[in-house]
Amino acid sequence: MKRKKIVAGNWKMNGTYDDACKLTSEIVAMAKDELNGNTVVILAPPFPFIPTVNKLTEQTNIKISAQNCSSENSGAFTGEVSAAMIASCGAAYVIIGHSERRTIFKEQDDLLLKKVQMALANNLSVIFCIGETKEQREQAIHFKVAEEQLNNSIFKLSADEFSKCIIAYEPVWAIGTGLTATPAQAQEMHHYIRGCIAKSFTPQVAEQCSLLYGGSCNESNAAELFALEDIDGGLIGGASLKSRSFVNIIKSMKD
Ligand code: PGA
Repeated sequence: MKRKKIVAGNWKMNGTYDDACKLTSEIVAMAKDELNGNTVVILAPPFPFIPTVNKLTEQTNIKISAQNCSSENSGAFTGEVSAAMIASCGAAYVIIGHSERRTIFKEQDDLLLKKVQMALANNLSVIFCIGETKEQREQAIHFKVAEEQLNNSIFKLSADEFSKCIIAYEPVWAIGTGLTATPAQAQEMHHYIRGCIAKSFTPQVAEQCSLLYGGSCNESNAAELFALEDIDGGLIGGASLKSRSFVNIIKSMKD
């Protein structure tokens, strides 16, 4: 079985309800005419827009993701959103461990593992983000950092649970900065990550796991990145907020 090719748009905390409707409708219109359907397309809107974006995409193959979920089941956790709520609104995926969650909201590996387990228990697939900071790359410890992030979280899952996870490698220094990892840097890290999965699980599990690149991926660099052996797609931030750019990125994926 071939690995799934995936392009996911992470809208982060951008736009209003009307903006979300407009962006979704434009993507749906373009997707109908221009996309061949071999790539899994995922939209990750902010929580309040999930039901509407789900409704607007229901005649398409587009899947919906949340950008985060609670590590708790339900109860007195004001402001939190549970995995069950997300699933009941029509999302099939949730992004966990984004560097903005790790850095700004101080989310640590053990909490992230709890979130992943909660997501899987509610039948959500997980897009799990890892990646090193600029300082860590300068110190040449980026492989070690990525491996530790995995060892301390999703490598503790069973192989069956792990098979519902997609990994997004997002070097922190490339997120929202316009600085993209070079194709050589991205491929080298993705190859390393696949090796870590093979070591922790089996080579077959590693072979099946989709690895996405994220960090200033755009319509000018996507084709080159997606053509690399161990890159199975992208997690797109800024460029996913413009329908034309996002659809062009999806179109850069070759079978
Ligand atoms: P960016 O964000 O494409 O704007 O760099 C990627 C991400 O944070 O997922």
